[in-house]
Amino acid sequence: MSVNSSRTADTLALIADDMREVDLVIAQRLASGVPLVGTVSQYIISAGGKRLRPAILLLVCGALGYRGAQRFNMAAVVEFIHTATLLHDDVVDESTLRRGRPTANEAFGNPASVLVGDFLYSRAFQMMVDAKDMRIMQTLADATNVIAEGEVMQLVNMHDASLDVTAYLKVIRSKTAKLFEASARLAALLSNSSPEVEQACANYGQALGTAFQVIDDVLDYDGDAVEMGKNLGDDLREGKATLPLIAAMQRGTPAQCALIRQAIETGETERLEEIITIVKSSGALDVTRQAAAAEAQRAIEATKHFQPNAYTDGLLQLAAQLLERRS
Ligand code: IPE
Ligand code: IPE
Ligand code: MG
Ligand code: MG
Repeated sequence: MSVNSSRTADTLALIADDMREVDLVIAQRLASGVPLVGTVSQYIISAGGKRLRPAILLLVCGALGYRGAQRFNMAAVVEFIHTATLLHDDVVDESTLRRGRPTANEAFGNPASVLVGDFLYSRAFQMMVDAKDMRIMQTLADATNVIAEGEVMQLVNMHDASLDVTAYLKVIRSKTAKLFEASARLAALLSNSSPEVEQACANYGQALGTAFQVIDDVLDYDGDAVEMGKNLGDDLREGKATLPLIAAMQRGTPAQCALIRQAIETGETERLEEIITIVKSSGALDVTRQAAAAEAQRAIEATKHFQPNAYTDGLLQLAAQLLERRS
């Protein structure tokens, strides 16, 4: 994972052996008799990615003392679901850069991306059956359903400059935080945890996932395309009223508000530089980062329900590190 800090390296060293096992499961389960499936899925998966959702699942398993082999399978499942959503999302968003390379839709076209995304989704469902646990099935079925709803809600909200913070949060809790929540909850289910601990895991995942997406939305205005491995300014191009823009409209002058409103409504990016300047000078990015910090704090509080050990420390550090991430 390229969240940039040496302490991130410490956190990830804890699960380095586990992650190698997960990578083996991923490689084995990508197998298909249809060559294009392998070509497209290898293309996006070999590009790396931070493997954040498997990392959370493995760290929470460690925090709860679960050492069973099913954790590798479930970690691969959440990465497959995540990868499927990326394949579909890049088609919907017409994105051209992902993980530092042309998106799969750019390299292979929309039909191949959509269909291989479907393959990865359905392969994930085949794999989760192996756990023989209805609660696990339920968690993942609910998560994929809510993610799809989140993406549809966002589609409906496109070019709506009157979107408020509540509506914004509903989208990001669905499209992004839900899979983080499921990843942490799966660890609780594998560990046969009490309902209280399971809820604390879900809270940790939800809060961390929300913080993660809020920072992602900051980086779309304040990041570096090379570090991010994806293009900046895409949110405005898509007419997405993310928190940096909502906050800028709350704090800017009437003329600045009108400029942002028009850009959201039309998706025109000619004045992107001016909008970035407004977002920065109005303090909107600081407000947005503070919102992410409040979510990270909620994640930190949830860890009080975990066993005090190195993995729990890792989860605490992860919450702090995600706020500083550049990629
Ligand atoms: C990208 O997720 C999609 C969002 C929720 C912003 P990641 O940033 O975790 O993607 P990879 O797996 O590291 O490429
Ligand atoms: C990605 O959302 C969320 C899902 C993949 C469901 P975005 O569209 O905001 O993320 P990026 O910027 O493409 O990674
Ligand atoms: Mg996108
Ligand atoms: Mg999107």
